[in-house]
Amino acid sequence: MAKGVRMAKTSAKPPNFRIRTKASKAYADRARRWIPGGVTANVKYFDPYPIAMKTAKGSRLWDLDGNEYVDYCLSFGPLILGHGHPRVMKAIRDSLLSAGTTMFGTPHELEAAYAEYLLRIFRPDGKLRFTVSGTEATIHAVRIARAYRKRPMIAKFQGHYHGGIDEFLVSHAPSEEEAAKLVPASGSLGTPEHVLKDTLVLPFNDLPAVESRIRAHAERLSCVIVEPVERSFIEPDPEFLKGLREITTEHDIPLIFDEVMSGFRTGLGGAQHTYRVTPDLTCLGKVIGGGLPCGAFLGREDILDLADPSADRFFHSSTFAGYPTAMAAGLATLEELRRDGVMAKLLATSRHTMLEIEKRIREAQVMAKVLGCGSVFSILFTEAPIRNYRDTLGANQESRRKLDFALLERGVFVKPEKPFYLSTAHDVEAVAHTFAAFDEILPTLV
Ligand SMILES: Cc1ncc(COP(=O)(O)O)c(C=O)c1O
Repeated sequence: MAKGVRMAKTSAKPPNFRIRTKASKAYADRARRWIPGGVTANVKYFDPYPIAMKTAKGSRLWDLDGNEYVDYCLSFGPLILGHGHPRVMKAIRDSLLSAGTTMFGTPHELEAAYAEYLLRIFRPDGKLRFTVSGTEATIHAVRIARAYRKRPMIAKFQGHYHGGIDEFLVSHAPSEEEAAKLVPASGSLGTPEHVLKDTLVLPFNDLPAVESRIRAHAERLSCVIVEPVERSFIEPDPEFLKGLREITTEHDIPLIFDEVMSGFRTGLGGAQHTYRVTPDLTCLGKVIGGGLPCGAFLGREDILDLADPSADRFFHSSTFAGYPTAMAAGLATLEELRRDGVMAKLLATSRHTMLEIEKRIREAQVMAKVLGCGSVFSILFTEAPIRNYRDTLGANQESRRKLDFALLERGVFVKPEKPFYLSTAHDVEAVAHTFAAFDEILPTLV
C-alpha cells in the first residue's frame, strides 16, 4: 500500500461522503471553471461531485484525499486484469522502446498480427479494421452495413448503448411512456429530426415484437445493431438471439453485435460464443486496448472488403487507428487472459461475488436482486422479473443510490447506478472487504 494512504475500514459509522472527499470537492469546483461539469465525459459525473483519483494498483484505487477503494468500475470495463498489470505495463514500455516513437502513421507489423489474433477468436473467415474507440467501431460498422445495403434506416434496441452520437443515443434511456410506445426518443439535445425518422426501436427479449417490426421495415433497413447481453448484465432469452439471426438473414439485413462491452466480459469470444449465434459484423473495444484507446469492427469478408482502398467504395480512416502501443497492450492483455485458468478464475470469482451479495440481500430481506453475466453484474431494487430496459424502469433508483454512496463511504468504488465490473486482480481480500461493506449497509436499506 502506498505510504500515507488510508485503507477505508468498514466501521459502523464511516465518515460521510462529503467529509472524506474534500479534496475531490475542491478539484471539482476548480475543474468546473474550464470543463463543463468538471468531467471530460458525462458518464464520469455524479451528484454532488465525482471522486477524483490519483493512483491505482491491481483492484485498488486511491483518491485525492488518500482514501483507498476496491474498484468495481475499472474505467467502465476495460481493465479486466486490474490496474497496472505487470505484463501489460511491460508490453507498453517494450513497444515504445522498440519502435523508438509513439506511432508511425504507416502500416506496422503488430496491426496484422493483432487483427489475425482477434479474427481467430471471433471470425476466422472474416476481416477487421481497427478504430480508436468503441464508438468509432459501432459508427463504422453501421456505416459499412449502410454501404452494403444502400438503405438509410437502422434498427436498435431500447436501452442499448453504442456510443455517444445522436443515432445511438436514440431511445438509449427513454421515459416510461416512450418505452411503452417504442417511439424513437431523442437522447441528446441537438438530435436532428431525420435521425429519429431513420431509427427503428426494438424491445430486447421480445422476439414476436422484434420480428413484426423488422418485417414491417425490412425494405428500408440497413442493419440491426444489438448489445447481445443488454448492458452486459441482462442475458438474452435462449431463443432470442437465434430468432434475431433468422429474421435478419431472411431479409439479408446485416446483424451487428456490439460486443464492445461483452467481448471479453461474457467470456472469451464474447456473447456470440456463449450463445452460439454468429453476427455479420462485430464491434469490439474496451478490453482489446489493454487500458489504452482501441476499438475494432470485424466480420464478413464481402462486407469488410468494401473498405479496401483499391476499390475505393467505402471510406474509413483515422489518424490514430492501429495505435502501436494500444495493440501491444491489448495483445498482452488477451494473452494473459487466455493463459490456462485465468478467465475461468475470473468468472468463478465473479459468480461467487454475485452469489454472496445475493445471499446477503436475501438474508437482510432487502427487496433487490443481482443480475449478471460473466464478469459484470448489477443490483436492481425490485422483485419484478427483468428481461429488458423497460422492466428496469420499475426499480427503485433512490435505494440503489443509497447503497452506492454507502459503498463509497466504505472504500468500495462503484459509479453510482452503474454495473459492477470485476478483474483478475480482485482477490479474496478485495471481495471480503466488499462483503463486509454489504453486511453493514444492507440492514439500513430495508
Ligand atoms: C456496448 C457499448 N458499445 C459502445 C460503447 C462506446 O465505447 P467507447 O466509450 O470506447 O467509445 C460502449 C461504452 O460504454 C459500450 O458499452
